[in-house]
Amino acid sequence: MSYNLLKGKRGIIFGALDENSIAWKTAERVFEEGGNFVLTNAPVAMRMGAINELAEKTNTQVIPADATSLEDLENLVEKATEILGGKIDFVLHSIGMSVNVRKGRHYTDLNYDWSQKGWDVSALSFHKVMQTLYKKDAMSEWGSIVALTYMAAQRVFPDYNDMADNKAYLESIARSFGYFFGRDKKVRVNTISQSPTPTTAGKGVKGFDGFIEYADKMSPLGNASAQECADYTVSLFSDLTKKVTLQNLYHDGGFSNVGVSDLVMEKFIDEE
Ligand SMILES: NC(=O)c1ccc[n+]([C@@H]2O[C@H](COP(=O)([O-])OP(=O)(O)OC[C@H]3O[C@@H](n4cnc5c(N)ncnc54)[C@H](O)[C@@H]3O)[C@@H](O)[C@H]2O)c1
Repeated sequence: MSYNLLKGKRGIIFGALDENSIAWKTAERVFEEGGNFVLTNAPVAMRMGAINELAEKTNTQVIPADATSLEDLENLVEKATEILGGKIDFVLHSIGMSVNVRKGRHYTDLNYDWSQKGWDVSALSFHKVMQTLYKKDAMSEWGSIVALTYMAAQRVFPDYNDMADNKAYLESIARSFGYFFGRDKKVRVNTISQSPTPTTAGKGVKGFDGFIEYADKMSPLGNASAQECADYTVSLFSDLTKKVTLQNLYHDGGFSNVGVSDLVMEKFIDEE
């Protein structure tokens, strides 16, 4: 169902890799709500080609940009404002990658060059995106910037590895930059802390299949899907949430506030 919540708004959506990506679902949903946007991803991700399908479906263009490169980001922002015909109203940062996770390096045995790369891609890139937009004065007043995060920033999830630290850093950037963006340009900045979701990045975490089921059993409303995350993001891009800023917003079916659930306890009670 469409409510035209984003009619006339212009945006940039980072991170649609394939149809499972949270950014992919968000782009489709934003399109339904009347938003115009450009899609972007790292040049290496383009090789898979799927993003062009999404661009066609949502009647838009893809501008390649490595989110760690200021030069790429400057080019992206310039082209996006040109193509869309004005300042930007919404931005989705949906980017994450840990080389240590990919290569199966344990948290107690990190390769620090890989940690730095993962930190740059997953956390610092958010600062780089915002600094580029800020310096170019490319955001409209009452615009909205959202990045995706995970609860391992607050609690221990051993297999999330150095991504936990990257997410803590990302959330801090949202608050710190959000302060200046709010004060100077009336732009809001928030992070959405999403349930485990079966995407390329999600499934790359060790033990994902068991964990997604555990999270589902712990959450009174069940895990939040990528589609539901897209809905929530649309609400944060819309004019209905103008004074929500500097927040880390849990979108997890209640998981983050549950100590233990009946469904999880059942297993142990049966064994007594
Ligand atoms: N899947 C989950 O369980 C889950 C849960 C909570 C939060 N998140 C977060 O959601 C976001 C989106 O991930 P997803 O689950 O949709 O997976 P995904 O693998 O579909 O998306 C990750 C994206 O990051 C992009 N990327 C990697 N390096 C980049 C670079 N240098 N420059 C630009 N883009 C780059 C990839 O190309 C890809 O499109 C990430 O921040 C992730 O940490 C995911």
